[in-house]
Amino acid sequence: MQFIDLKAQYHALQMEIDANIRAVLDSAQFIGGPYVKELENKLADFVGRKHCITCANGTDALQIAFMLNGVGRGDAVFCPDMTFISSTEPAKMFGATSVFCDITPDTYCLCPESLERQIQMVIAEGSLTPKAVVAVDILGNPCDYDAIGALCEKYGLFLIEDAAQSFGASYHGKKACAFGHIATTSFFPAKPLGCYGDGGAVFTDDDRMADLIRSFCVHGKGPGGKYDNVRVGMNSRLDTIQAAVLLPKLKALGDYEIDQRQTVVGRYNDAFVGKLQTPFVADGCVSAWAQYAVLAKDSEARDKVIAHLKEKNIPSMVYYPTPQHALPVFRNEPHYGESFQNADDYCARTFSLPMHPYLEEAEQQEVIDAVLEVLEW
Ligand SMILES: Cc1ncc(COP(=O)(O)O)c(C=O)c1O
Repeated sequence: MQFIDLKAQYHALQMEIDANIRAVLDSAQFIGGPYVKELENKLADFVGRKHCITCANGTDALQIAFMLNGVGRGDAVFCPDMTFISSTEPAKMFGATSVFCDITPDTYCLCPESLERQIQMVIAEGSLTPKAVVAVDILGNPCDYDAIGALCEKYGLFLIEDAAQSFGASYHGKKACAFGHIATTSFFPAKPLGCYGDGGAVFTDDDRMADLIRSFCVHGKGPGGKYDNVRVGMNSRLDTIQAAVLLPKLKALGDYEIDQRQTVVGRYNDAFVGKLQTPFVADGCVSAWAQYAVLAKDSEARDKVIAHLKEKNIPSMVYYPTPQHALPVFRNEPHYGESFQNADDYCARTFSLPMHPYLEEAEQQEVIDAVLEVLEW
C-alpha cells in the first residue's frame, strides 16, 4: 500500500498525460510556451484570482512573496509554529525574524488570538517592525481568513496565504489561493495538485504585483525582455513538461479527486471517532486533505500505533514531529513570550494515515483494522 499513490493516479490519467508529454517533446519547447500559459490561465480561473504566475517550487513562490513586500532585516514575519520550514525560511534568508504563533487546538492552523498577542508583543518590545503574516492552510485545511484578514488590516500587515498543502480546498465558497495580498502554492508530487518534479505558483489580483512577480521570476527582467535586467531577481520557472502534466491533473482534481478525498476521510472519521482525535474542518470550509492526521492520546500511544502499522507494512507519517520554535535552526532565538501549547501538544500526538483519492475501500479497511486493533490492546 502507498501512503500517496501517484502510480494509481498516473494510470487513471495516463492517456492525457502521455499525450501532453509527447507533444512537448515534439515541440522541443521546454521552457514557457502555450502549455504554461494555458495552465496559468486555468489555475487563475480555478481559484478565482486575476493572475497566476508559475515558478520553480513553492519555496520560491514564498520567497517572491517576501521580495514583493520588501521583507528584510529588522522585520517581523508572523507564522504558525506548526508548519513546514518553507513557510518562513526565505524571510529568514532575507534577514527578517520569524515570530511564531500558536495554532488552534482544532483546525491546527494559525490561531488569530495568538497572532494578535504576538503582534502586540513585537510592537511593545519595539526592536522589530511587524511586516507580514504567513497563514498556512495546514494539512489542506483553510485558515480563519475572516479573523486573520481583519488583524492584517488593523495592524497594516501584508498577508500571504501559504496554500502549498491546500490547493482545491475552499473557505466560505472561495477557493484556497484566493486569500491574502499574495497566495502561493506548491506542485511537489505529493501535494493535492502535484507535478512530476518541482513546481509552484504565485497568485494575486494586483496588476502591478503580477508584473513584478514575472520580473522576479526571470532575473529581474524589464520591459525590454530578459536582457533588460532592471532589478535583482531569480531564475524560477515551471518547466513546460510539468505544465503539460498538471493540466489533466487539475481537471481531475476539480472533476472528482477532491470529492473522492472527502469519501476516504468520511470512512476514516466514522471508524475513529471517539477513539482518536479526528480532524476538524470549520463550517463552510472544505479541506483538500493533503494529509489525514489524527491525534493519539499521548506520544506513547502514537508511537505504538506507528510501530504496529509498520509491522503490517502500512505506511504512516508524522507531519510534523517538531514545532518550528523547537527546530535547531530557531531554538536559540528569542520567541516573544508566547507559549506554543497547542503546537507542542499536536506534534507530540499526531500521525497521518494513507490518504489519496485512489485509495481502495479494501485498503482503507486494512488501515482502519490495524489502527483499531492496536488501540484496543
Ligand atoms: C506548508 C508548505 N509551504 C511551502 C512548501 C514548499 O513547497 P516546495 O516543496 O514546492 O518548495 C511546502 C512543501 O512541503 C509546505 O508544506
